[in-house]
Amino acid sequence: MTLSIRAIDPVSRPFFGAVASGIDITQPLTPEQARAIEKGMDAFGVMVFHDQRLTDEAQMAFSRNFGELELATNNLRDTKEQRLGAHIADISNLDINSNVLARENRRRLFSLGTRLWHSDSSFKPVPAKYSLLSARVIPSKGGNTEFADMRAAYDTLDDATKAECEGLVCEHSQLFSRALIGFGDFTEQEREDFAPVRQRLIRRHPSTGRKSLYLASHAGTIIDWPVPEARAFLRDLIEHATQRKFVYAHAWKPFDLVIWDNQATMHRGRPFDPTEVRDMHRTTVAGLRSTMEEAA
Ligand SMILES: [Fe+2]
Repeated sequence: MTLSIRAIDPVSRPFFGAVASGIDITQPLTPEQARAIEKGMDAFGVMVFHDQRLTDEAQMAFSRNFGELELATNNLRDTKEQRLGAHIADISNLDINSNVLARENRRRLFSLGTRLWHSDSSFKPVPAKYSLLSARVIPSKGGNTEFADMRAAYDTLDDATKAECEGLVCEHSQLFSRALIGFGDFTEQEREDFAPVRQRLIRRHPSTGRKSLYLASHAGTIIDWPVPEARAFLRDLIEHATQRKFVYAHAWKPFDLVIWDNQATMHRGRPFDPTEVRDMHRTTVAGLRSTMEEAA
């Protein structure tokens, strides 16, 4: 078996989204294989591996080739029990007994924030590098994940807008993204936990040096700007960045594993029948530093 990494759509999106084949990622990688995948991620931003029957342990071992794992602590204080381990984010609509969450369930309503464009953990002081999502059970239709290329988004801004963005710093918080979908049912403790963190609006990729827009629905203010002006500006940028020509829509198959680089992409979930099971397990590789400490 030889690892091959090719663009998913070489005609319309030759530089964004790749499919990797000729590798069994349920088994330990060689250092060469790990380097080749990282190089592929630098080139394509999103990489799909089909038919990988990962256990949580194997998924964690594979993910650790790319850095330290983030802790997957529950965001909401009233969900004390975790269905999955400390390093596996539970991207499912299931409760601790593996029953589908009721429509009005608070955790489910909070999780609907992932239908908005975002970059994982941009609300943490040190945001995520890669997210690795493994499809264990998928609904019969819907539930795609869409990815937007934030390098292309930056490159295609006009010069005046690039200049306007240069040096700007945003505040990111889950309070901002949930306000957009009308979810404000937070405890005082949660409001404290979700205090905004600062991130640069334009970031330079730590390994490729390429610039990209660092946007997310979690971004709610721009430092030194009036809030309405900041929100309107960020909304325009998100609209620009998520034009269809910059977007790859992944239609999941069971046991797909998709990796995306949160440093150069945004993504969002698409709707599906809430009475059907959707069980996805995510590992998240932490970045090394805040964007505020990255090279400008
Ligand atoms: Fe996400």
